[in-house]
Amino acid sequence: MTGDPKRFRYQRLAQEIEQKILDRTYRPGDKLPSVRMLGSRLNLSTFTVYQAYLELEAIGLVEVRSKSGYYVAPISLRDIRIPAFDRIFHPPREIKLSAMINSVMAAINNPDLLPLASTTIDVELLPYRQLARILKNLSHAEIKSMLSYSLSEGDLELRRHLALWYLGFLEGISPDDIIITNGCMEAITLSLLAVVRAGDTIAIESPTNFSFLQLLKELGILVVEVPTDPLSGVDIDELRKVVENNRIRALLLMPNFHNPLGAVMPDEKKKNLVYLANSHDIPIIEDDISGELFFEGKRPLPLKAFDRKDLVLTCSSFSKTLAPGLRIGWIIPGKRLKEKLQSLKAGTTVSTSTLNQHLLARFLSGGAYERHLRSLRKSLKKQVIRTALALQKYLPPDIRIAVPRGGSLLWVQLDARADSETIYQEALERGVSIIPGVVCSNSGQYRNCIQVSCGSPFTREIEKGIEVLGAVIRETSSNGQIVE
Ligand SMILES: Cc1ncc(COP(=O)(O)O)c(C=O)c1O
Repeated sequence: MTGDPKRFRYQRLAQEIEQKILDRTYRPGDKLPSVRMLGSRLNLSTFTVYQAYLELEAIGLVEVRSKSGYYVAPISLRDIRIPAFDRIFHPPREIKLSAMINSVMAAINNPDLLPLASTTIDVELLPYRQLARILKNLSHAEIKSMLSYSLSEGDLELRRHLALWYLGFLEGISPDDIIITNGCMEAITLSLLAVVRAGDTIAIESPTNFSFLQLLKELGILVVEVPTDPLSGVDIDELRKVVENNRIRALLLMPNFHNPLGAVMPDEKKKNLVYLANSHDIPIIEDDISGELFFEGKRPLPLKAFDRKDLVLTCSSFSKTLAPGLRIGWIIPGKRLKEKLQSLKAGTTVSTSTLNQHLLARFLSGGAYERHLRSLRKSLKKQVIRTALALQKYLPPDIRIAVPRGGSLLWVQLDARADSETIYQEALERGVSIIPGVVCSNSGQYRNCIQVSCGSPFTREIEKGIEVLGAVIRETSSNGQIVE
């Protein structure tokens, strides 16, 4: 049997069958070989085959029919069409935020709404028990040491664990190369302050994380939006034209599990992109916050792995993997910009919470992070696939979905006449939050798109919420009115 030898046999078998379903060797509705027959053909126990089928059933790819056996689910991920991608050019512009942004922010944080808009992970999937144990066992001496400021570049133990974490996919990172920040957003803010000024222009992806637009507006930075492919990320040919025809001071990009598209840039594309930016001496600020959330294979590389001129600033945090509320993130600024970043950190927020850094350093020290990530990736994969299949089932048949290979977000493109603003308002009235596509760009694009989060376990309640969303989309017309 092929597949990753480190996985259990049932997992390898499940992965092989999944591949056969995705490449349509097995088609939607096909009967799968019986547990006994497959076991004897592959020389595996019936228990192993049964576990593999259970695994595929849990992610919605296979269904069991009473007294009949296992079947490929009638809706296939392969039937889902990928969103189209426009190569529309936008000249440099000041940020003009969508009027809806405050309402969307409030909806994301409203616990009474079904969380299809949340960009973080349900706390039930986070390792709160282990973190509670660490806190409970803190000695008085440790607590005393946590009442002081930490070093402004961050707790040495935490930076040491982070440097070790990068071993294997980013060469030569030492604790001195890392600055701890209050989440990824502070890492990005400080990086921007280091390389651009108010009135400068930077290039961003289109669509982008709407929090970036809020930040860039506050800093008075202009943007050129570069078309971004839902599968492979920013379009390099368009980016080349942009940097050749404009005075671009920096790029702000999400190469791994992009928010909101879920795209991952292939290595070759990352290499070409960094080469392009390096040859124009343009710094790249990369947001790698979801890099650890890959479903299969290896961790995708950060852009920094291809940097030859020390011009990539890598920003990340534990907000998507461990605890957004602890506000622990970091920057790897490179040697050129390290001093500038250290001085910006010290001169703005002084340092980062000593207690929270210590807590995470202790969590990272015992191997618990890797175990937690393995289980989190599995849960997210399940949630993403089940949510995508439910969207395909309950939304109109002409939808297109970018189904990512990691992370927790789905980008859904509706009929060209759909109005995500009306859909958002109407869904909110019915207790469901989504992110309307219009807030993800500076140019009023993506009116017919929505972002759906898969950060919570796929329950009957979530399925009902998706059914409600489907009804709302069907009932709303192109002019934004509800049609009977
Ligand atoms: C792509 C991306 N970057 C940054 C952030 C914010 O990160 P933090 O909470 O660590 O500041 C988010 C939050 O959802 C995000 O989706």
